[in-house]
Amino acid sequence: MRSCKHMKIVFVVLLSAIISSVTLCKVPYDQFKHLMNNSIVERLFHEEPCACMERCLAASDDEWFTERFRQNVPPLLSLNNSVLPDNIYTWWQSLQSKSQANYSQVIQELFSVIPGEGHYRDAGPSRCRTCAVVGNSGNLVGSFYGPLIDSHDFVMRMNKGPVEGYEKDVGSRTTHRIMYPESATHLDNTTHLVLLPFKILDIQWVTSALTDGTVKRTRYKVIDKLQANKDKVMVIHPAFMHYVHTTWLHIKSRRSYPSTGFLVLMFALHICDEVNVFGFGANSKGTWHHYFEKMPKSFKRTGKHSGGIEHQTILELQERQLISVYRGW
Ligand SMILES: *[C@@H]1O[C@H](CO)[C@@H](O)[C@H](O)[C@H]1NC(C)=O
Ligand SMILES: *[C@@H]1O[C@H](CO)[C@@H](O)[C@H](O)[C@H]1NC(C)=O
Ligand SMILES: *[C@@H]1O[C@H](CO)[C@@H](O)[C@H](O)[C@H]1NC(C)=O
Ligand SMILES: *[C@@H]1O[C@H](CO)[C@@H](O)[C@H](O)[C@H]1NC(C)=O
Repeated sequence: MRSCKHMKIVFVVLLSAIISSVTLCKVPYDQFKHLMNNSIVERLFHEEPCACMERCLAASDDEWFTERFRQNVPPLLSLNNSVLPDNIYTWWQSLQSKSQANYSQVIQELFSVIPGEGHYRDAGPSRCRTCAVVGNSGNLVGSFYGPLIDSHDFVMRMNKGPVEGYEKDVGSRTTHRIMYPESATHLDNTTHLVLLPFKILDIQWVTSALTDGTVKRTRYKVIDKLQANKDKVMVIHPAFMHYVHTTWLHIKSRRSYPSTGFLVLMFALHICDEVNVFGFGANSKGTWHHYFEKMPKSFKRTGKHSGGIEHQTILELQERQLISVYRGW
């Protein structure tokens, strides 16, 4: 859609127009020089890391960003990358109650049900993938962001955040829905289920929920048979969760992990060229609630989620113009 080639043709035409106006209408040379010294014009003569006009995330040379961003950490499990280094396996185990399951066997079973090839390792000069990360915040109510959200290549939603009845504010497309067994919801067959595996049992659950439905409980009773297109199921890599935990959030405590919203944002950062964020944080009155739930009667500022390092990191990403955050209403 946003092919660089087309833009180049447009700019070559524009340039010719400018040059003719310089020669014909005697536009002052300084002004012409100013026009020439424009990053967009400069881009005509360089091979760009991606085809987006606004930004190419992964290629940013922002120092704060490059200190943290690791392009080579795979965000998704595949047949080829499923072996976990000891330190990561130990960390992942520490998040969950002891499991007797054999990890490599669980992975084998998973990839006998869902596709095992790698995904989205296709960054390059001809790709401009725009992504909307849509949280569940009440600040979406009355925002009229629907069409804007839907205009992205990928629209990522999380957990049970509904679309039906909220289209004008949250959009109607969902390309990816990120969830874990306890937050699962049925999907249509065009949406990618992206599983966040907080424990081995979560991977066993997704295998089961797409086949015979034998896993009926995780922390508590969960959906045992899930409607979803199993050819579109993906699983976030435990090593990716570990990387977000340590490299982005510097979390010291062993038994805590990043929030779903933050993990989805990081996932988007690693597979998209341009990321826009919707439905994160409180509304303009400082109220925290879900857009699909009634507004609390008293506008109580909980503030509990607001001061954390995740929030700081999102602000920093925005300040450095690496992402755009749409604050809603
Ligand atoms: C072009 O812009 C850069 C910074 O954006 C500046 O350092 C440089 O002097 C400019 N060159 C000309 C010819 O104006
Ligand atoms: C786990 O499963 C793999 C493959 O199914 C097998 O080779 C391995 O011996 C098993 N490990 C243990 C500790 O049972
Ligand atoms: C695994 O990687 C090898 C080479 O690295 C590649 O030839 C093969 O196609 C990959 N398999 C899958 C399922 O992606
Ligand atoms: C997906 O669903 C549509 C209708 O809802 C159906 O026509 C189509 O065959 C389904 N595709 C697959 C792969 O199940």
